[in-house]
Amino acid sequence: MSTPTFPDWSPQVDENARILIVGASGGIGRALVSMLRKGPACTIGAHRNSTPEPVATEDGPQTILDLQQGLHSDDDCRALVEFFSDAAGGIDGLVVLSGFIGRGEHWRDLSGEQWEQSVQANLNIPFFLARAAMERMESGTILLTGTESALHGGSPTSLPYGVSKRGTECLVQGLAREGAARGVTVNGVRMGYIKSGAHERWLGKSPEDMKKRAEMVLLKRGGEPEEAAA
Ligand SMILES: NC(=O)c1ccc[n+]([C@@H]2O[C@H](COP(=O)([O-])OP(=O)(O)OC[C@H]3O[C@@H](n4cnc5c(N)ncnc54)[C@H](OP(=O)(O)O)[C@@H]3O)[C@@H](O)[C@H]2O)c1
Repeated sequence: MSTPTFPDWSPQVDENARILIVGASGGIGRALVSMLRKGPACTIGAHRNSTPEPVATEDGPQTILDLQQGLHSDDDCRALVEFFSDAAGGIDGLVVLSGFIGRGEHWRDLSGEQWEQSVQANLNIPFFLARAAMERMESGTILLTGTESALHGGSPTSLPYGVSKRGTECLVQGLAREGAARGVTVNGVRMGYIKSGAHERWLGKSPEDMKKRAEMVLLKRGGEPEEAAA
């Protein structure tokens, strides 16, 4: 199927906004940074975990803060949010795109450590980040990511991922209730299959596997990272 053409998406971002993107080195994160670079002057915290090179260089009106940090605890998350907020003079937006699916073992064979690692990355870390950002925000927006597959019990090889992502939806609702009173909106995006390269990277999926996956989508194609970013 041919590559779809997209409308001219312009980022809905206030001038001088300060936005921290956690997981900016991933497929969707990179698309989001590129999209924001077409918008007004603002400060973007481009977080990467293990990616060696910065996600973006400074060649637009935006200020890019290159932030590298593995996130393994509440303290790590708090340190990242505080560092960005201090450097940018505050924080108006947090987008959490970090996460990973795991190596694809059936849930029967998962060790306790593997289960915990997935829940840590996909549920605990988003909570710690959102909480730390909320404490610092006077007003603003927090965006967390869910997945369509979690609505159907995930798959046998992605159960802790699905459980965590479904938990994230509860997190969005709980934090949104609290944030509304203070002008902080909390939203979730529940995505289907996006062609970010994550499935190939995490699960070793082949082009043939991904073709079959696309057949399960009504449009018979995966979403482009730019569509998810928009
Ligand atoms: N692609 C899809 O079909 C799809 C569907 C539904 C939901 N989602 C969700 O959307 C989000 C973005 O997905 P994507 O496809 O762009 O994924 P991706 O390409 O695999 O990117 C994942 C990001 O998470 C970071 N990360 C992984 N482990 C981390 C850790 N321990 N600490 C800090 N950062 C860590 C990675 O950093 P490094 O690469 O620098 O290590 C990378 O920036 C994820 O939460 C994913 O679960 C994706």
